Amino acid sequence: MKQWKVLVSRRIPQEGLDLLAEACELTMHQEDRPMTRSELLAAAAGKDGVLCLLTDKINAELFDAAPTVRAYANFAVGYDNMDVAEASRRRIPLSNTPDVLTDATADMAWALLFATARRVVESDAVMRSGSWAGWGPLQFIGGDITGATLGIVGAGRIGAAMTARSNGFRMRVLYTDARRNEQLEQSTGAVFVSFDELLRQSDYISVHVPLLPETRHLFNEAAFARMKPTACLINTARGPVIDEAALVRALRDKTIAGAGLDVYEHEPAMSEGLAALPNVVLTPHTASATHASRNGMARKAATNLLAMLRGERAPDCLNPEIYPG
Ligand code: GLV
Repeated sequence: MKQWKVLVSRRIPQEGLDLLAEACELTMHQEDRPMTRSELLAAAAGKDGVLCLLTDKINAELFDAAPTVRAYANFAVGYDNMDVAEASRRRIPLSNTPDVLTDATADMAWALLFATARRVVESDAVMRSGSWAGWGPLQFIGGDITGATLGIVGAGRIGAAMTARSNGFRMRVLYTDARRNEQLEQSTGAVFVSFDELLRQSDYISVHVPLLPETRHLFNEAAFARMKPTACLINTARGPVIDEAALVRALRDKTIAGAGLDVYEHEPAMSEGLAALPNVVLTPHTASATHASRNGMARKAATNLLAMLRGERAPDCLNPEIYPG
């Protein structure tokens, strides 16, 4: 029996759809692009639940346009697209998809770190252009990874997974966070330092903080000025944590050596000049794009939505304060 009407705002892996289809009448946006705002507002109206994406703004305007919707399940671990306070005020439960993408995201941060440090993309372009004239002692010299200092900004699940992978490269790891992570310190030897100290000492800095008012533009002109001129910045978290226009200037002026970015301040746009720089490696927000991760996200989002529709607390509930007791 199809008990609930559910909107899925873009095609997700089949495993999640299969779970939902048992109990829900599904409406799925068929085109491979985010729904426009007006499409989302219209399609959500009359539904019981919405499985949404990080590209959908879940806020008062949507809650007003779709008053029958009583649960939103985000197909993402990050949830800066959701107005949690407003949802809680209206007692609408929200969920996200943690854990299943931790390893894939940390792996991608390492892929960007390697590609940036060892200039893999620049080198690939030279090979493809047919202009390589043979081995040379001064060609494509990059940064050392083994033995270098890695700075982790945000020592949650993904920051901790990034740190654990550094042990094979005999790296010294510094980390900063709003709170100390003593378990991480004990298991990896990572050392808690201030943000300022981390900027000054790190050869590679990897960003793993959520987007919050206090992390927006954490990396700005002043932060770049404090980094080593040989340092590289890696971001698989959220674009607005970096002032992207200031990053373009820092990369162009060689204030820092390089950057590896999976996320952008104004996705899908990039700041002017970014794509023309040789010392940046760019991927299209694909850190969680592995088969296991995306299937896991689909299962989690569907499982969370079904629980919320049944009136239960979702396993990955973002606003437990709405439930009594
Ligand atoms: C991807 O960016 C996510 O938050 O899952």
